[in-house]
Amino acid sequence: MTTPAARVFDEFIADVRKVWAAESDTQRRMEATQPLLKKLVSNEDLRAASGTWPSTEGRKNLLLHTDPDFGFVVNAVVRVPGRKGSVHDHSNAWVLYGLLDGTESLERYDRLDDGSRPEYAEVRLASVTHGSPGNVDLVPPFNIHAEQGGPSRSVAVILRSEVLVGRILQHGYDPETNVVITRSGPQQIPFQIA
Ligand SMILES: [Fe+2]
Repeated sequence: MTTPAARVFDEFIADVRKVWAAESDTQRRMEATQPLLKKLVSNEDLRAASGTWPSTEGRKNLLLHTDPDFGFVVNAVVRVPGRKGSVHDHSNAWVLYGLLDGTESLERYDRLDDGSRPEYAEVRLASVTHGSPGNVDLVPPFNIHAEQGGPSRSVAVILRSEVLVGRILQHGYDPETNVVITRSGPQQIPFQIA
């Protein structure tokens, strides 16, 4: 039997696929998808269902959907209270980050050096956005940021413009030492919404 949460997620995927079929530019696809993700993460049935989703501690993501035609990927992250997020980018992918439950904050960083030294970057905190359920951020390619957990467990749904893990390396930044590391994205755990 299909649950209300599974049905709402299937409708979301069908709506996103319509947008991606009608538009070929990645930025415009992602901008047109933002209100669809906002509707998804504002849904009470999905929020209730997410209460049983497993923690993704240890650099994991739940893998909810990989689109066979358009290549976009939908993940979920389930953070423990007070989770400290690392400073990173998503390489050349566009990412929509929608908060479904709990609160989190999104820190955005400016890059201060000219990028000419390998494995080195000076980054400085530029802004902090506090997110509550229904909030969706669009993160452009190579944007340097960190997602920080709130005082309670939090759940987010993420739509990435393309498959990153296993294909494209992302960057991690240490604002204290200015060291840049190159690494694969989080481990993907296949998960079916019920
Ligand atoms: Fe991120």
